[in-house]
Amino acid sequence: MRIDVISIFPEYLNALNLSLLGKAQDAGLLEVNVHDLRNHTFDRHKTVDDTPYGGGAGMVMKPEPWALALESVLETSPAAQKPVLIVPTPSGEGFNQSAAYELAEAEHLVFACGRYEGIDERMFHWAREHFWVRLMSVGDYVLNGGEVAALAMVEAIGRLVPGVVGNPESLVEESHGDEGLLEYPVYTKPSSWRGYEVPEILLSGDHGKIAEWRKEQQAERTRTRRPDLWFKHQNMA
Ligand code: ADE
Repeated sequence: MRIDVISIFPEYLNALNLSLLGKAQDAGLLEVNVHDLRNHTFDRHKTVDDTPYGGGAGMVMKPEPWALALESVLETSPAAQKPVLIVPTPSGEGFNQSAAYELAEAEHLVFACGRYEGIDERMFHWAREHFWVRLMSVGDYVLNGGEVAALAMVEAIGRLVPGVVGNPESLVEESHGDEGLLEYPVYTKPSSWRGYEVPEILLSGDHGKIAEWRKEQQAERTRTRRPDLWFKHQNMA
C-alpha cells in the first residue's frame, strides 16, 4: 500500500517511521511519503492561508497550494483507479474499525492535513474530479490540525495491511472487532503481584471455562464502559 501525507508540519509524521509501521516500510509492505505543503507556494513567505471571505475568526487555507501538492502526488500514483483522499476534520464522518478495514483495501491513500479554520471549500470540488474524497473525524473533539488524526488513521489502517502485524491471530480478538464487544482483561506473570492476584480461572487450564469467563468479561466491560456499543451488540443479527 502506498500512503502520502501532505502537511505544513511534516515532522509530525516522523512517528510513522517507528515501530510496526517503520518495519513494514523497511519490508516494502507500506510506502509512506510525507510532503510539505509549503513546497507548493511561490511567494517569499510560503503563504498557505488567507482571511475568510464573509469575515469571521481565523484563517482559511488557500486552495492552490493544495491542488499543486495533490497534483504532484497524482503524478506518481500507483493506483489504477482514483486514489482515496482522506481529509481529517472534526466535521467529517466518524473513523472507526470498519472504516479502517475498508480503507486497508485501497492501493493508494492520500492524507491532506489542514490547519486553521479549514481549507477553501472549492478545493474539495476540484479534488473530487481526481480522488475518492473522504472527510473523516477521529472523535468528537477538536485538534489543532489534521496531523495527529492522520497518524491515528494511518496506524489503524496500516496494521490491517496483510503482513504488517506478524501474528494475524492478534487481529482477531481485538476490541471493535466483528462482535462489537470490547476486549477482555489480560494478565501475565507473576500470578501474584503486589498483593493483586490473577483470576483463578486463568490458572485452571480449563479452556472452555476460560473462554466462557472471557466472554462474560467482554460483555460486562462493554455494558459498563460503552453502553452505546452494548446496545448495538444486543441488536446485532
Ligand atoms: N482535525 C481537528 N480535529 C479533528 C478531529 N477530531 N478529527 C479529525 N481531524 C481533526
